[in-house]
Amino acid sequence: MSRILNAIVAVCPDLGIGRNGDLPWNPVRLNNEFKHFRKMTSTPSVEGKQNVVIMGRKTWFSIPEKNRPLNNRINIVLSRELKAPPAGAHYLAADFSSALRLVDVELADRADQVWVIGGSSLYKEMMESPGTRRLFVTQILKQFECDTFLPEISPDKYRQLTEFPGVSKELQEENGIQYRFEVYESI
Ligand SMILES: NC(=O)c1ccc[n+]([C@@H]2O[C@H](COP(=O)([O-])OP(=O)(O)OC[C@H]3O[C@@H](n4cnc5c(N)ncnc54)[C@H](OP(=O)(O)O)[C@@H]3O)[C@@H](O)[C@H]2O)c1
Repeated sequence: MSRILNAIVAVCPDLGIGRNGDLPWNPVRLNNEFKHFRKMTSTPSVEGKQNVVIMGRKTWFSIPEKNRPLNNRINIVLSRELKAPPAGAHYLAADFSSALRLVDVELADRADQVWVIGGSSLYKEMMESPGTRRLFVTQILKQFECDTFLPEISPDKYRQLTEFPGVSKELQEENGIQYRFEVYESI
């Protein structure tokens, strides 16, 4: 079944997304940016269904325990090593295509949108997958030290959309950090 794949990520100017298993700007919190993440990933387009979030094992454990699983979303964790879903996660998959198969077969009746929420290798795999892909990128306009990165968004493969329903075009600022919401779609 062909479905749109969505990814959502917040990146520093050097495409950094993480440091020491946390967000680069930790301990600064960007609450409105987090609200954007929550709204985009948890709002299904079909009433009665739930969106799916797919993430790597390290991203799962980077979420504070009290916030796991991400509520109102079906949480799938990817790992080659784990034999069972980590406590609180709904499903475990051994690779990205198994996760998508799980969504399309076992979860077909109750799953709506698919959201890849990190980290690096999953974003890369999603960005190189066939079919329509949308990247919801928060460009953080301040550099922090990073050890984990998003692959380059190639202008040959992705075009930036001028607007997208529910995504503000205004410059945002929280705790002295400016950022912008951007949406890219595969060409
Ligand atoms: N800025 C943002 O928007 C954002 C978003 C997400 C994460 N982050 C940050 O990014 C960092 C975590 O990302 P990361 O790239 O280091 O790790 P990650 O992708 O979250 O987790 C890596 C692990 O996930 C499993 N995995 C990944 N791809 C897989 C695949 N295709 N098939 C099977 N298993 C797969 C493997 O687990 P096993 O080793 O168990 O096999 C791998 O070691 C943290 O610092 C986090 O805060 C930032």
